[in-house]
Amino acid sequence: MTDRAFWKSFSGLIAALVALAVVLFILAQMVGGKPAKPVEATADAKAVAERIKPVGEVTVGVVPAEKVTTTSSNAVMEAIIPSANAAAGADGKKIYDASCMACHAAGVAGAPKLGDKANWAPRIAQGTDKLHTHAIKGFQGKAGMMPPKGGNMSLKDEDVKAAVDYMVSQSK
Ligand code: HEC
Repeated sequence: MTDRAFWKSFSGLIAALVALAVVLFILAQMVGGKPAKPVEATADAKAVAERIKPVGEVTVGVVPAEKVTTTSSNAVMEAIIPSANAAAGADGKKIYDASCMACHAAGVAGAPKLGDKANWAPRIAQGTDKLHTHAIKGFQGKAGMMPPKGGNMSLKDEDVKAAVDYMVSQSK
């Protein structure tokens, strides 16, 4: 084969390959390479929003009379939380477990241990009001320092009182 003949058939081959590549590219475009249309993207976004939307929504403002479901939702609340109306729902043990146990279970930093009757007796003797105030406002005693609300300022006064009542009931 001469050089010339070689280059002729070689360039012919290259041209054929390029043509084949173009054809394959076009075919690929037709079969599956379509970019997602904006419409589909929106539909996806809607589906996602639908899936992650909150279970309930709070309506602020005027609610049309026929949509007011206060009584029925109260009934639901009462069914779910039987004690919703009793004792304002404050659960002393839960609050103790979450906010007070860290110190009062083991007696950290001088905290009177839950169930340590000897330690609690003189404290209980001060009266419940005083214990409530000490727990809510904080208290510097001989044994150590009780931080206001045990350091959890998100607690309501009633929550702290319920926790104190629970601690007292377990310690006398
Ligand atoms: C950072 C540790 C800590 C946490 C958390 C804590 N306490 Fe205390 N608490 C103390 C210490 C220390 C004392 C003892 C102070 C003393 O008598 O010197 C105390 C004392 C008390 C007393 C007795 C007060 C008195 O007059 O003798 C009560 C009641 C009490 N805590 C309630 C609570 C409640 C309720 C919580 C949770 C909301 C809580 N504490 C969380 C450290 C803590």
